[in-house]
Amino acid sequence: MRSPVQRALNGRAVEGHRGVIRDEVRRLFTGVVGGEPFDFAALTDQLPMAVIGTLMGLDRDDWSHLTFLTTQAVAPDDPEFVRPEGPQATLHRAHRELFACLQDAVAKRRGGGTGDLIDVLSTMDFEDGGGPLTAGEIVSNCYSLLLGANVTTPHVPNAALAELTATGTYADWAEHPELLDSGIEEALRWSSPTSHFIRYATHDVQLGKVTVRAGEAVAAWIGSANRDASMFPDPYTFDVRRNARRHLAFGVGPHFCLGHALVRVTLEEFFQELFAQFEHFEPAGEPEHLHSNFIAGIKHLPLVATRRKG
Ligand code: HEM
Repeated sequence: MRSPVQRALNGRAVEGHRGVIRDEVRRLFTGVVGGEPFDFAALTDQLPMAVIGTLMGLDRDDWSHLTFLTTQAVAPDDPEFVRPEGPQATLHRAHRELFACLQDAVAKRRGGGTGDLIDVLSTMDFEDGGGPLTAGEIVSNCYSLLLGANVTTPHVPNAALAELTATGTYADWAEHPELLDSGIEEALRWSSPTSHFIRYATHDVQLGKVTVRAGEAVAAWIGSANRDASMFPDPYTFDVRRNARRHLAFGVGPHFCLGHALVRVTLEEFFQELFAQFEHFEPAGEPEHLHSNFIAGIKHLPLVATRRKG
């Protein structure tokens, strides 16, 4: 089931969307007024839907609500996202609403031949000859794509800007276009938006000094691996010159992130445009972190921007 979606999101396919992504990124920056405090995180919050919403062919009017629901689904304890009935109810309601919205979107699209990602899912066959996906399988995969994109992407620029502004090193990256790619890999390592993933052992395994018994759960803490000093010397320094390409922000193995090529192009367009339009950023308050044990991220980042002249 992965292969057809992977083809639709591989490097070459994603290059074809670069122009659309650039336009969407530029649209996001139009509202930023130099010299006035603004919430950088409110801007980046719109970034993933501008890309995945377009690629999936989702209605633009639904984007902000879908973004809110995906955050509720990963941070049901956060005071800004919890419903009055409590975290458990928040989790259930967010998922129910998300699935209902996506079910509508899929039902509208069926047989449409629009070429978007929902179309890919609706018209593909299982590679092992298992036939087309059921409506439920299409909706579940839409959910994975939407959640995978929405809850992670904004936290890469948020964490990078929080650090660059706190240390006054924005210009060290912004003035060096040749460091775009290495800086993005470092930002992925630094932010590690997905905190962990859990697997269940299928048989007894010796892991270092620990024996993991068949059936036991093992949590791989991605943020911790990405601060491993034996892999990344001086790991608590954000260094755009570092070769951080072997970070684990996208996981590893057969479930390696399906959206990695899309995110890399999105971040290239985002940072390129950011550096082209803005000369400087100053902190305008303390960053506020999302309350979640799954997603590590900043939900509010007050900054003041200085636009480049001319
Ligand atoms: C900075 C942004 C992103 C980060 C840090 C990230 C992180 C991850 C990680 C760690 C996994 C592995 C999960 C596992 O091992 O079970 C994963 C899987 C996945 N990601 Fe991403 N992701 C990002 C962006 C995206 C985007 C933009 C999309 C959608 C296009 C996406 C869709 C998916 C999907 C569908 C999977 C499941 C793949 C599978 O189970 O085979 N992700 N992601």
